[in-house]
Amino acid sequence: MDIVVEVHKKTAARLAADMVQNGMVVGLGTGSTATYMIERLGERIAEGLEVLGIPTSEDSARKARQAGIQLTTFAAHRHLDLAIDGADEVQRGPLNLVKGLGGALVREKIVAQAARKFVVIVDGNKPVDHLGQRTAIPVEVIPFGWESTADQLSQCGAKSLHPRMDRAGHLFVSDNGNMILDCNFGPIEKPDFLASQIDSIVGVVEHGLFLNMASEVLVATEQGVERWEP
Ligand code: A5P
Repeated sequence: MDIVVEVHKKTAARLAADMVQNGMVVGLGTGSTATYMIERLGERIAEGLEVLGIPTSEDSARKARQAGIQLTTFAAHRHLDLAIDGADEVQRGPLNLVKGLGGALVREKIVAQAARKFVVIVDGNKPVDHLGQRTAIPVEVIPFGWESTADQLSQCGAKSLHPRMDRAGHLFVSDNGNMILDCNFGPIEKPDFLASQIDSIVGVVEHGLFLNMASEVLVATEQGVERWEP
């Protein structure tokens, strides 16, 4: 763990948590940066802030409960005021994202889509010129016929792809009971085109390309926090 990077993640996360106002319904992201945001929100709740959270994973739900954040569901609240989450890559300019290295991309995308404002919190290692230049694109697929779904993804240009494994060396199972295929496309020139190709494959539940979704990105570096808007 790089302590300096952790400090940067925490700085961006606390700034985002401080954007939350009384009475809001807030989407709670997943991952190490989002965890700092959840912790800060917990501190503010202890000081009197009243909010409801919709978590993007079972892990975030657990952390939110520990922090004292009252949780709600889409059954009770169809729209969120704000969603705050980390990202694995942020494309400079359009602020398109790759998400899902934490395995929560489906719920993360549903929550981001339902939010009036989607704030992304990252450290300075995450901005890139082209999505896919550093990370694989996670694609959540249903287990049935995944080998065939994988062939379809290869035909979309994946140079290599691997079923994600968990720490114990077993196939990773998402909160939704699905598999994740980590697909290496290399630097992606036309993310919209690739996203629509992947969307059309039967067996794909969702992919980690979050295009035109971020309202604002907080990028924390040695120089402080930059606020980027698309
Ligand atoms: C979780 O599925 C991911 O989308 C995370 O938001 C993303 O991996 C960023 O995680 P870190 O904040 O741990 O880098």
